[in-house]
Amino acid sequence: MPKPVRAAVFPVAGRGTRFLPATKASPKEMLPVVDKPLIQYAVEEAVAAGATKLVFVTGSSKRAIEDHFDTDPELERALTASGRKDLLESIQRIVPPGVTCIYIRQGEPLGLGHAVLCARPVVGDEPFFVHLADDLIAGNPPCLAQMAEDYATHGNSIVAVEEVPRESTSSYGIVGLDDNGSRSQCISSIVEKPKPEDAPSTKAVVGRYLLVPAIFDKLATTGRGAGGEIQLTDAIADLLAEQAVHAYAFEGRRFDCGSKLGYLQATVAYGLEHEGVGDAFRAYLRELVQV
Ligand code: G1P
Repeated sequence: MPKPVRAAVFPVAGRGTRFLPATKASPKEMLPVVDKPLIQYAVEEAVAAGATKLVFVTGSSKRAIEDHFDTDPELERALTASGRKDLLESIQRIVPPGVTCIYIRQGEPLGLGHAVLCARPVVGDEPFFVHLADDLIAGNPPCLAQMAEDYATHGNSIVAVEEVPRESTSSYGIVGLDDNGSRSQCISSIVEKPKPEDAPSTKAVVGRYLLVPAIFDKLATTGRGAGGEIQLTDAIADLLAEQAVHAYAFEGRRFDCGSKLGYLQATVAYGLEHEGVGDAFRAYLRELVQV
């Protein structure tokens, strides 16, 4: 039985230029979908999959993320005094008991692979999740929990994948596999952002990974790849030369919250499901489309 996965790495150092000016002074991971920032959805997903050590790889102008996961005694006192028990609980349960947050700075923007390598000193010799908060996935069970369950059966690294149109392959890591239709399959290749004509398939890596610690040795020697950055995809390709890596076709719906359209779609989908405003929001949308 492979070791349970207890660490989750959140690379959050990116500048979020696609969302400027909203992200000029505020991290893109703090963009809210209804009433929670993207990074809180990320943490909730990792914790639901068993993570107890949360490693944030941050950069400049990301202080708001640390503040969000810190306690705020002044706000707690104010909410207690005004009798807002519901709101008090909503801020107190952001980090559940037994879960630790650790922050590491990625001094230079050298790419996703480099960001993950920065987490090595605190992850150590353990399997770990990597979660990219831009990719919001509605799934039940959540995507990382599905992957952890799959990992328990084979103990190999896993990348979450979904079908994308061929013209979009140059926005993703793309896996090559001999598709037998099952949810979890060994891959034969993985390549970062190939042109449509070069892509080995149309199965794209989305922002969820479960990696064995051997990936760190690969990352340490991975040179600059696509876009001049140290790519996690390239290190996974190196790992694949030595051991199996699985692609996992998760069950759920992904929203690319790094794009404006994806973010708006997520807001609508999560708004409709929201306990407090869902019904009123549905009624509003109905009224809107009738016009
Ligand atoms: C990163 C990865 C890419 C992956 C994507 C998923 O790219 O490098 O392999 O498919 O995340 O969102 P980015 O979107 O940071 O350019």
